[in-house]
Amino acid sequence: MLKKSPIGIFDSGFGGLEVFREIVKLLPEYDYIYLGDTARAPYGARAQAEIYKFTEQAVDFLFKQDCALIISACNTASSEALRKIQQNYLIKNYPDKRVLGVVIPAAESAAELTKNKKIGVIATQGTVASESFIRELKKIDKNIEVYQMACPLLVPLIETGKENSKEMELALEECLKPLIEKHIDTLILGCTHYGLLSDKIRDITGKGIKIVSEGKIVAEKLKDYLKRHREIEEKISKNSLIEFLTTDLTEKFQKLGSVFFGCEIEVKKVDI
Ligand code: DGL
Repeated sequence: MLKKSPIGIFDSGFGGLEVFREIVKLLPEYDYIYLGDTARAPYGARAQAEIYKFTEQAVDFLFKQDCALIISACNTASSEALRKIQQNYLIKNYPDKRVLGVVIPAAESAAELTKNKKIGVIATQGTVASESFIRELKKIDKNIEVYQMACPLLVPLIETGKENSKEMELALEECLKPLIEKHIDTLILGCTHYGLLSDKIRDITGKGIKIVSEGKIVAEKLKDYLKRHREIEEKISKNSLIEFLTTDLTEKFQKLGSVFFGCEIEVKKVDI
């Protein structure tokens, strides 16, 4: 039997499949387990304590599957739970393992791109309330001004198949207008789902604003991380095997999952 020690990818649902798609494209040799907590998604408007509890359960489940490393592809979980997981849970339970998020890679990329040091962030309410992007951007350069907008309508509109609707157009204009008025030159799409809206967002912002979409950036940062951390890289099994797991197997996951991942996927239900 193959000894598997995959990379775990975690998200509240299927949006993280877009980040995962880019990771697999760049690093096809590794084994992966993708876990989407669809039974309890969306996380975006939940309380911090709840998001922490769900994230810890998901991380615990993935480490019990012998994952060598976990990527939290969910911005809300990365923002509301990751620091505590890294500073308490890992040290107590898995001191040799790592959980990485998506906020720092996106913040680093935006900080490199901005010229006028005015960066906009659109995200869920949870991510905005956590101020995680503000914290990480200020750590890189305290002169960066960060303008955030919570966009609670975007995820449900995408999940109900309304990404090309008039409602979406209006919702996007409402989110983006206040940021454009602040003269941002860089915009972070701080939510798994927003990558799908890149073209529509660009139509509103115009070419003058650089858009940071997480998929490719997170994949590149992971590649770089694994190069620098051979002790972790050596533990990951390399048979190009992928397993898709979800806490609630719905037709929606099967359908939208394939849209986000870019091809048909076979999903298995698990209890975590
Ligand atoms: N995955 C979430 C994020 O990136 C969006 C969906 C949700 O609210 O659960 O913030």
